[in-house]
Formats: sequence, structure tokens, C-alpha cells
Amino acid sequence: MSGVKSTYWGWAPATGLLYTPFFVYFNCFLIYGLLHLVRTYNDVDSSFRRNRATLILLGTLVSLIGGLIDFARFILARFVPAADLVYPMGIPANMVFALMLGTSIVRYRLFDVNVVVKKGAIYLLLWGVLTSVLVAAEQYADWDQLNPLWVILPLGFVMTMLVSPLGQRLEERIERVMFSRRRGCYETLLDLSKRMGSILDFGRLMETLVHGLVRGVPLTHCVLMIYDAQRSAFVVYREDATVGEGVGAVAIRVDSRIVQWLNQTGRVLVKEEVKLNPEIAAYFETAEGELDAIKATLIVPLKIESKLTGILLVGEKLSGDIFDDQELEVLAVLANQVAISLENARLYEELSESNAQLLQASRLKSQFLASMSHELRTPLNSIIGFSKVLLNRFDGELTERQETYIRSVHNSGAHLLQLINGILDFSRIEAGKLEMISEELDLHELIDECVESSMPLARGQQMKLEKNVPLELPPLSGDRTKVKQILLNLLSNAIKFTAQGRILVSVVAEPDAIRVSVADTGIGIREDDLAHLFEPFQQLDNPVARSAGGTGLGLAISKKFVELHGGRIWAESRENQGSTFHFTLPLT
Ligand SMILES: Nc1ncnc2c1ncn2[C@@H]1O[C@H](COP(=O)(O)OP(=O)(O)OP(=O)(O)O)[C@@H](O)[C@H]1O
Ligand SMILES: [Mg+2]
Repeated sequence: MSGVKSTYWGWAPATGLLYTPFFVYFNCFLIYGLLHLVRTYNDVDSSFRRNRATLILLGTLVSLIGGLIDFARFILARFVPAADLVYPMGIPANMVFALMLGTSIVRYRLFDVNVVVKKGAIYLLLWGVLTSVLVAAEQYADWDQLNPLWVILPLGFVMTMLVSPLGQRLEERIERVMFSRRRGCYETLLDLSKRMGSILDFGRLMETLVHGLVRGVPLTHCVLMIYDAQRSAFVVYREDATVGEGVGAVAIRVDSRIVQWLNQTGRVLVKEEVKLNPEIAAYFETAEGELDAIKATLIVPLKIESKLTGILLVGEKLSGDIFDDQELEVLAVLANQVAISLENARLYEELSESNAQLLQASRLKSQFLASMSHELRTPLNSIIGFSKVLLNRFDGELTERQETYIRSVHNSGAHLLQLINGILDFSRIEAGKLEMISEELDLHELIDECVESSMPLARGQQMKLEKNVPLELPPLSGDRTKVKQILLNLLSNAIKFTAQGRILVSVVAEPDAIRVSVADTGIGIREDDLAHLFEPFQQLDNPVARSAGGTGLGLAISKKFVELHGGRIWAESRENQGSTFHFTLPLT
């Protein structure tokens, strides 16, 4: 058998003339490569690339050692035959090398396997098509008879096309359509930007961003840091990683050089660029340690209205590519959007939080008022009741003075009770504990009753109390007591705030409601005050209101009652000329 020789370990390839020079050349090449690798390895500061390089380094070393052992055996065996007993290490060592290289390709993406496979497929297809065309042409054409120009010219044309700029552009285009990685990165960023616009929940938003970037681009890792006022630093809020252990990101202090730079420029900081760009390098001269502590390729500011609200740390692309200018641009746009979404989400959260607090406070207040008023009413009723008993002289005569005092006790008590009832009513309404008892209403009768019982209030004033109610009115239903209270409130106000003149209660039937109005010729209300009139505890700043007393709840309660009926209440007024209050009750 030729080409092999028999050894202690079995058949081995027989060495030819060129074996030794090739062996020397090959191992020199390996040593040279190893030196080169070690030198670059020392400059690499990314753990991801370092891991990758370590594998290749070790693999090369193993292969080299295997080769050297074999070489030593080979030389030694010429003088000491026992050297043949040493196992030939070359082949297993190379297998280990191949294994490590394979790991580095697949696990650490030495290059994108997908791209290699796709590219290979395309070249294979092209080769197949061209060969088939040539074979077919050979079958049908009589080559011998053919002028060679027919072959040379088109072939020359195709070749020129391929090497010309036109051809290169063509290839670029094919690449982009077929498997451009940039397009993948673009699409990811655009898609993310679209998705983020529609998310309001803060946590989910951040998750989408970080996760989307890491899985989509894909990246080694990505960290979102958010400003923490308590620690006055940017701290990790969300992180995600594809390779290796955790990201191990640290907080970035507000007074750090990095934050200052991001604040000043608002640009993405490319870490590699710090070394290459003298201007940036000078800026970070004093802060190298700070920068080294941050594991990221890109440091992206999240800024809103010149306020830095967050920082995005972007790791390396798994493909090993760098981020090109266009990608950086899109990333900056995305960062802008993220900052806005962040702010929106934060505001939204804050708003719903304070909203809930307000609701709770309002409910507590109503509860408090309701129980307080109830507690006050009980003793008050006995004050009023017993003073009435005394006044009626069931227990003997009173002196004139005693009567004055007790009448004062009785009147003040009655007034206080009225105030408390008002508060109680209002808080009951606020707490939503008020029921409506609907019945048919006779407005004529109701208005008569109210005017009559308001008469005593106007005693001693030069005032006419009039009404203008059409005889025929459409049937109307509502809660009698409440409508009566609305009217009484409006009437008592009109009388209270009118020194002299006339007060007119009128009713107008509208297509789908009845409108009741109370007009007076009193002090009137300023235009600005009209807007707050129906808010609780609103008493306008005028001498009459101050001296007349009251709680400022009358109109607020009336408004609630009107709204309970599904109607509307409003006022028109001119200062010193009078006011008109209207309310509507919808027809059923
Ligand atoms: N007809 C009116 N003319 C001028 N001002 C009025 C008139 N009606 C109400 N106001 C103003 O609106 C304020 C609120 O009225 P509202 O009836 O709610 O409270 P009040 O009359 O002061 O107290 P309460 O009715 O609870 O005893 C009054 O203090 C007054 O300043
Ligand atoms: Mg009032």
C-alpha cells in the first residue's frame, strides 16, 4: 500500500518531499497567528468578545502543542525508536481546536451562521443556473461553427458588470433584500417605537423596550436606568441579557462625568469612540474608571425638555457588528420617544394615584360630616324641644327677661339645626346615600306653598312677592320635598339679597322640560362669581352675605337636587340690578 506507513499506533500517512517545509510553514503561521491574537486580546475590553477570543486562543494553542509533540516524535524516532511509543497528538489536538472554534461560532457568534448559509445558497443557485445555461447552449448550438465573439462578448459584459460599481450596488441590493442585518435592526427599532406608543403601563413599557431590544437586534444585554431622587443617581430599573452571567450594572451618580456629558450634548455616547475622538477623550480623561465600570457599547440618554430622566445602556450586537450611523440615528429617535412615553406613563401613574387619594379623602369627609351632623342633631333637638316647652309656659310663668333669653336659645337652636341639616343633606348627597321618591307634582300648589312660607322672611322689607305660572302645564313628576327645598332655597336667597323691589317666581313650559325661574331686584352677582356660585360653602364677599349668615350650602344642595331629577340649574345676574336663577325639570 502506498501513501501510508505502518507504525506502533497503526497506519499513518507517509511523508513526502514537501512534508517538512509545509509542517514548518504551518506551525510558524500558527505561532504568528497566536501572537497576533494575544496582542488583540489584551486590547479587547468587552467580556463578550474576550470569551470568544479566549476559546480561539486556547484552541490554537492546543493545536500547536499537538503539532509540536508530533514533530518532536518524528525527529526523535530517527535516533530513538522508542519515541514511536508516544501517542501522535496532532489529530486529536486539531479536533479539540475545531470543537472550540465551532463553539465560538455558534455560542459567541464569531460570524452569523445564517448569513453564511444564505449566501452559500445564493452562490450555489447562481452557479447552478449559469452551468445549466451553458450546458443547454452546448446542446443546441454548434460551437465549432460559432464565431468566438458570440461567447466572449456576453461573458465579458457579465464580468464587467459584476466588478463595476453597478455590480457592487446590485450585490448590495440583493444582500439588503435577502439578509441585510441592518434592515433587521431597523425593523426592530421601528417596530419597538410603534409598540411603545400604545402602552400606558409603566412596567410593561420598560419590559417591552429592554426585552425588545435584546431579543430583536439581538444584543448581548440591555439595561434601563431611571433617575432615583433619593439616591440622587440613575439606578437599574430593568435589565435583560442573552449571554453569560448577569449584566452587573452599577448606579450612575448624577454628578458623574457621564451624566454631565449626556446632559450637555443629549447625544448617544459610543464607548469605543471615547478613545478615538480626541475631544471626547479629553472630556473623559479624569473619569476613565467611571466609564470602564459601565458595561455597554452605547450609552443612550433619555431626555425630555432638556431633563435627563433615564439612561439606556445598550450591549453589543450578537452579530459582532458595530452600530452604524443610521442605526444610531434611529436609536436616538427611539430614545426620544421612550423618554416621552416614560414621562407619560409616570404622569398617568401619578394622576391615578392622586385621583384615588382624592376620592378616598372626599369619601372620608362625607362620612365624617354625616356622622357628626347626626351626633349634633340629637342634643340640639332637646334644646329646641325644652325651650319650646318653657316658652309655652307648661311649667309656670316666665319673667319678661326669662322669655327673651329662652326665645333667643330657641331661635339660635333652630338656626343651628337648619345649618346642620344642610350639611347633613349635602354630605348624604355626596356619599350617594340620597333616595328619590318620585310622584306627580302640582306646581301651582307647590309654588303657592313656598311663596307663603317665605313671606315671613320678607316682613319689614318693601318687597312684593309675585308669581307667574301658566294655568295649563304638562304633567310633571319628581320628588316633592326636594323640589320644594330648591324653590325655598332660591326664594330665601332672593329675599336675603334684595333690600327692596320685587321677587317673581315664573314657570315656562319648554318642549321637553319645565323651567322655573326666581328673579329678584337685589344686589346682583359679579360676572366672575357666577361660575363658583353652585360650589359648596361658597359665600360671596359682600356685606349682605356676611351679615346674613348661612352656610353657603343652599345653592350647592339645590344643584344636586336638580341634577338628581336630570335637570339643570344656572343663574343670570347684573350687579346692583338683580339676579335670576333658573332650573329645569325634565318632562317624563
Ligand atoms: N339672589 C341672589 N342675589 C345675590 N347673591 C346671591 C343670590 N343667591 C345667592 N347669592 C350668593 O351666593 C352665595 C351662595 O348662596 P347659598 O344659598 O349657596 O348660600 P347662603 O345663602 O349664603 O347660605 P345657606 O343658603 O346655606 O343658608 C350667597 O352667599 C350669595 O353671596
Ligand atoms: Mg341660601
